[in-house]
Amino acid sequence: MDLNYLIHKSMSLVIIPLVLVSLCWILPLLFLFRLIFSFFQFFSQENMAGKVVLITGASSGIGEQMAYEYAKKGACLVIVARRKKKLEEVAAQARELGSPDVVVVCGDVSNINECKQFIDEAIHHFGRLDHLVNNAGVTGGYPFEEITDITKFALLMASKAALIGFFEALRIELAPSVTITIATLGIIDSEMSRGKILSKDGELILSPENSKGVFEGFPVMNTEPATKSIVDSICRGERYVTEPQWYGAIHLLKDLCPEMVEWYYSIMYFKKKSSLFAEKAD
Ligand SMILES: NC(=O)c1ccc[n+]([C@@H]2O[C@H](COP(=O)([O-])OP(=O)(O)OC[C@H]3O[C@@H](n4cnc5c(N)ncnc54)[C@H](OP(=O)(O)O)[C@@H]3O)[C@@H](O)[C@H]2O)c1
Repeated sequence: MDLNYLIHKSMSLVIIPLVLVSLCWILPLLFLFRLIFSFFQFFSQENMAGKVVLITGASSGIGEQMAYEYAKKGACLVIVARRKKKLEEVAAQARELGSPDVVVVCGDVSNINECKQFIDEAIHHFGRLDHLVNNAGVTGGYPFEEITDITKFALLMASKAALIGFFEALRIELAPSVTITIATLGIIDSEMSRGKILSKDGELILSPENSKGVFEGFPVMNTEPATKSIVDSICRGERYVTEPQWYGAIHLLKDLCPEMVEWYYSIMYFKKKSSLFAEKAD
């Protein structure tokens, strides 16, 4: 028999039970350590007065509200999105809330040259950049089999879970001088949760009907408490923030018993599919 295969087979037999047994005493100690650490972290928020924060996707929803949370803390802002008029309204509101200086930059985050340009603009104007909030994003809401042009969904494939993997790796490279906070969210009130999704033809469409199908069955959290918690977590240098917090239980279930989560989503999927068929029949 292949020696390499035997080595890996024996390692699987030894390492898996060893890790499971070790976790029984490591986990309680780890939770105690985290509890003490988060107690000290809670009182050591970064002072944002005069600091420079660049937020992508600040023309609506979570990014817009994050601009207001940072403004209340006295931070200078560079806000980026494609809709200039909306950004100017957000800038005016952020100045009223306490931001000493707000720069509006129209840019498309899916264009690498434009990304370079808005970072350069922030550094050129303020001479520094303290926080970069990568928030801009879109979502899709159609079953794979209904998509007519898969190339238009490339935007989506570079986002979501891929970003988490990328930033988890980057965090290790950049520590300790740069900290990275990853926000994992449930359903937060925004244009997206109200139905702004990529249609099956790859076009961004805002329609309340979309939210019925995509987000049905999930309670929506208000934007302000969610973004306040995200900004506070960033200022405490936390690794992850989940809002609403009970969504953490879903992450746990996904790791421990993925069958349950898949079962729930498949029920939602078939419910949506049958309602679509019912609409067509009407
Ligand atoms: N709301 C939720 O329940 C929820 C849940 C999980 C994750 N998220 C994530 O949270 C982030 C914010 O979403 P949201 O809920 O606040 O939705 P939203 O209200 O639709 O806001 C999305 C923002 O991203 C901007 N944007 C989209 N594509 C862009 C591009 N190519 N270049 C520049 N800006 C772009 C939009 O501005 P313009 O159209 O003006 O460019 C808008 O400001 C997204 O990454 C989303 O995936 C949201």
